Amino acid sequence: MTILEHSPEVWDATRVADADRRHVWHPYAPRHGATGNLVVESASGTRLRLADGHREVIDGMSSWWAACHGHGHPALREAAHEQVDRMSHVMFGGLTHRPAAELAERLLGLINSPDLNGDPLTSVFFSDSGSVSVEVALKAALQYQRGVGHPERTRFLTWRGGYHGDTQGPMGVCDPDGGMHSLWTGVLTPQVFVPAPPPRGSTPEVLERYLAELRAAVEHNDVAAVIVEPVVQGAGGMRFHDHALVTGLREVCDETGALLILDEIATGFGRTGDVLVGAAAGVTPDILCLGKALTGGFMSFAATVTTDRVAAAVDSPDGGGALMHGPTFMGNPLACAVSLAALDLVESGYWRPRVARTEQLLREGLEPLRGHPGVADVRVLGAIGVVETIDPLVSPAVTAVLVECGVWLRPFGRLLYTMPPFTCTDEEIVRITDAMVAAVDA
Ligand SMILES: Cc1ncc(COP(=O)(O)O)c(C=O)c1O
Repeated sequence: MTILEHSPEVWDATRVADADRRHVWHPYAPRHGATGNLVVESASGTRLRLADGHREVIDGMSSWWAACHGHGHPALREAAHEQVDRMSHVMFGGLTHRPAAELAERLLGLINSPDLNGDPLTSVFFSDSGSVSVEVALKAALQYQRGVGHPERTRFLTWRGGYHGDTQGPMGVCDPDGGMHSLWTGVLTPQVFVPAPPPRGSTPEVLERYLAELRAAVEHNDVAAVIVEPVVQGAGGMRFHDHALVTGLREVCDETGALLILDEIATGFGRTGDVLVGAAAGVTPDILCLGKALTGGFMSFAATVTTDRVAAAVDSPDGGGALMHGPTFMGNPLACAVSLAALDLVESGYWRPRVARTEQLLREGLEPLRGHPGVADVRVLGAIGVVETIDPLVSPAVTAVLVECGVWLRPFGRLLYTMPPFTCTDEEIVRITDAMVAAVDA
């Protein structure tokens, strides 16, 4: 290889795509991914700039729910620049710093709304990804049960259709049919599954029957905690259910001694129109998982937040004496500083009218697909728009139509969906829904 081949100027789109195809794994794809990943040159605001042909597409995925304020938001960039000059990382064992301490305090202030019932959340464990924050939540629940004299409570209960991440513990509570379980039979710890939650708009009788079944499953198994994605089941099927179910889950957990873990990694920080959907249901979980939009999608970061009761039991001698986890990049100062700036944006509330308007435009724009012969369902909640087709979508073909329309979405299975940045203009949302209609038609 010559020096010239190493120089940056030869890294054009073709060169990047070629090296990528030969050496780089992508999510859920064989190493030599046949579909041809698009090369992104830069990302700014709602747009991704593609290297090939210098086209721009709207990031209708907010890069997997994360970049909710758009890419490279000036406030987040400024926070990162300021922090990187001071300290990008130090270990968190035996050391601490202002960005982590301040973020913990600010985060708790945001999530403990005054009108909530139940114990406030008081203790924050910062980790590096959503999956790890779920691992930590599961571990904390097990340690809690030991701490309160129930070492036999070692199982987790969840509903079908969920998704909580790709590491070992979270995989065990993902949907057992759609969540890669069959690949790991005999490896994953078998957990307790109840049917998928009744869809949004179900009658109170249906919800009551469902919750009774769920309660029986908690009572007949040694359940340490119930873990769910409240109101929106994301990557497990993009299904919505009623806030009342979350309220009901809180009651079941209170009455049975199981902890309630709410995974708000996808829903947290405004996606549905509320800062947190648990809080919108009037529920404080025992353990809360946050990630993705915590940094405004700027970088990977996550938090597991617990009540004092959970933390005290974990810290008790029977509980293990300490939360037994400690990732290398725990409490990363750079991510904390960016998260603080992202919290400013969340607290400013600028997104509230935008999410409401996005919801309206998604409803209007996707409505024509409701009667389409290839479409099973259309559903919208906040800044989330979902089209469920009858047959699986041929992903590369659909992607080609979407990109042609100037929109980036990532369909999977029978789902074509968008969760656009809150900063999208009306015209951009219309462009996204038009592209979805064109993709289904094609
Ligand atoms: C609800 C939920 N939990 C957990 C995760 C895992 O987060 P990460 O991909 O950051 O590990 C995801 C990711 O999509 C998610 O949507």
